Amino acid sequence: MRIISSLAGLIAAVPLLSLASSSPDFTGVAHARRQRQDPCTLFASGGDDGPIFVDTLQRCDTVLIPPETTLSIATRMNTTGLSYKNIDLQGTIKFTPNMTYWIDNGFYFAFQDQIAFWILGGNDIKLFGGGTIDGSGQVWYDAFASNDTLLRPILLTIYQATNVAIEGINMINGPEWINFVNEGQGILYDGVNISAVSTSENPAKNTDGWDIYRSDNVVIINSQINNGDDCVSLKPNSTNIVASNLNCNGSHGISVGSLGQYAGEYDIVENFTSTNVRMANAENGARIKAFAGQGVGSGIVKNVTYSFFTESNVDNPLVIDQCYETTAEACAAYPSNVYIQDIWFDNFQGTSSGNEKSVVASLACSPDGRCSDINVNNITLTPPTQYGNATYTCQNVNVTGDAAYLFGDCATTGT
Ligand SMILES: *[C@@H]1O[C@H](CO)[C@@H](O)[C@H](O)[C@H]1NC(C)=O
Ligand SMILES: *[C@@H]1O[C@H](CO)[C@@H](O)[C@H](O)[C@H]1NC(C)=O
Ligand SMILES: *[C@@H]1O[C@H](CO)[C@@H](O)[C@H](O)[C@H]1NC(C)=O
Ligand SMILES: *[C@@H]1O[C@H](CO)[C@@H](O)[C@H](O)[C@H]1NC(C)=O
Ligand SMILES: *[C@@H]1O[C@H](CO)[C@@H](O)[C@H](O)[C@H]1NC(C)=O
Ligand SMILES: *[C@@H]1O[C@H](CO)[C@@H](O)[C@H](O)[C@H]1NC(C)=O
Ligand SMILES: *[C@@H]1O[C@H](CO)[C@@H](O)[C@H](O)[C@H]1NC(C)=O
Ligand SMILES: *[C@@H]1O[C@H](CO)[C@@H](O)[C@H](O)[C@H]1NC(C)=O
Ligand SMILES: *[C@@H]1O[C@H](CO)[C@@H](O)[C@H](O)[C@H]1NC(C)=O
Ligand SMILES: *[C@@H]1O[C@H](CO)[C@@H](O)[C@H](O)[C@H]1NC(C)=O
Ligand SMILES: *[C@@H]1O[C@H](CO)[C@@H](O)[C@H](O)[C@H]1NC(C)=O
Repeated sequence: MRIISSLAGLIAAVPLLSLASSSPDFTGVAHARRQRQDPCTLFASGGDDGPIFVDTLQRCDTVLIPPETTLSIATRMNTTGLSYKNIDLQGTIKFTPNMTYWIDNGFYFAFQDQIAFWILGGNDIKLFGGGTIDGSGQVWYDAFASNDTLLRPILLTIYQATNVAIEGINMINGPEWINFVNEGQGILYDGVNISAVSTSENPAKNTDGWDIYRSDNVVIINSQINNGDDCVSLKPNSTNIVASNLNCNGSHGISVGSLGQYAGEYDIVENFTSTNVRMANAENGARIKAFAGQGVGSGIVKNVTYSFFTESNVDNPLVIDQCYETTAEACAAYPSNVYIQDIWFDNFQGTSSGNEKSVVASLACSPDGRCSDINVNNITLTPPTQYGNATYTCQNVNVTGDAAYLFGDCATTGT
């Protein structure tokens, strides 16, 4: 019975995934039904539960980790190449704080010099059950404070995967990025609660909620995130992405980019929607960033909509920065080769932190018309009262929409 209800859950994921433009294909599920076995239940062994977890996942269609069970994972887990699997995580999967082991043995990704505890991939995989993945992050937060080149493992990496649903799971104490979607297609996160918070004076740095890379059709919805870096970040080649109904606290915002970082690479972000986002105590709200200057890469950001953002105490509630980490002189001499076009910022309300004094929104583009079709509608953002009226700044951009007038000389429409 459990198996049938799990499959029903898997099929029920389809309408949610179809929020993005191309729907994943679950036609294999009926075929898989004939091959189902009873769930295999795992309990803690008292030692390293990594090898048995990997082995059980390969042998069984459904792996159950019951409530009150904490699997201790002391060795890296490669569970790529799976087909039709359910991971019913009611208890906890906890990675050991053995830094020397993980630094030497984490799965390495050259992109931004990352390592991972666990790579999960294949087709038709569901991870659900209300349980927790725990990264024992505190030792890493403390060690990073005195070694800023410390490699720290990503909590959960979905790697080379198609049709994956991760529903109703808690992710806590990730040492660095929490979720990495690398070469994935049709990946759903629904009801994922993230908490990466330090209990010492050393902050939980670089704890991005999600990083998406070389992936298509990824949906992140109905989730609560309390962390210390981007809430969601779209890295190079993220297409048809949804990040909606999110509650982000303490983050660096919902970010596209940074793009164009690496010479010779072409980075694409196309078709991204982020709606109904509450952003609190953050560095940024909605942000698009791209490098400029000599010897950088190129690319395009096309068709992005941010709407219904409610922000409070956010340093930069609405941002385009096409001269990211580039001086004004270098940006003028070498404008960004990442073009930014067809962008909507609609229905923003709330307050900035005052960190940028009265500035609540900034559209800073490279020269030569490299931002185009930038639209702003229905924006009411206010700084703390001591800074007076809100200021909206802009460079090298023509702004349209009913709130374009806020951007003064950059406005081409609006009242
Ligand atoms: C993971 O395991 C698969 C199958 O054994 C293997 O082909 C692959 O190279 C492994 N991946 C890594 C990163 O070790
Ligand atoms: C940490 O991992 C190393 C291997 O990298 C091992 O020798 C050591 O015993 C482990 N420490 C603990 C406390 O398990
Ligand atoms: C920082 O950590 C890395 C391991 O990620 C190590 O190779 C390096 O030696 C450490 N640096 C210092 C100054 O301890
Ligand atoms: C996530 O947080 C929400 C709101 O606090 C809660 O309703 C939900 O049950 C939590 N999800 C899990 C998997 O614990
Ligand atoms: C939200 O983030 C702020 C700043 O990081 C932190 O002080 C506060 O405790 C967080 N709120 C919750 C509910 O965790
Ligand atoms: C992004 O996709 C384009 C088109 O397929 C490709 O040319 C480019 O190399 C990809 N870039 C990265 C960073 O993967
Ligand atoms: C823009 O992206 C949205 C999804 O985010 C999609 O529904 C829409 O069709 C796209 N528009 C164009 C012109 O491609
Ligand atoms: C963006 O969405 C449009 C409309 O659905 C589609 O035609 C186009 O192929 C999508 N772009 C990418 C890169 O998937
Ligand atoms: C303007 O945006 C606010 C949310 O920021 C929303 O409540 C309101 O309905 C929007 N007004 C219009 C006319 O769309
Ligand atoms: C703004 O529009 C005007 C008129 O179409 C055009 O001449 C100018 O180059 C545009 N500026 C930018 C920064 O796109
Ligand atoms: C602030 O805006 C109000 C209403 O638009 C205006 O009357 C007032 O003069 C402005 N204050 C300053 C200091 O610009």
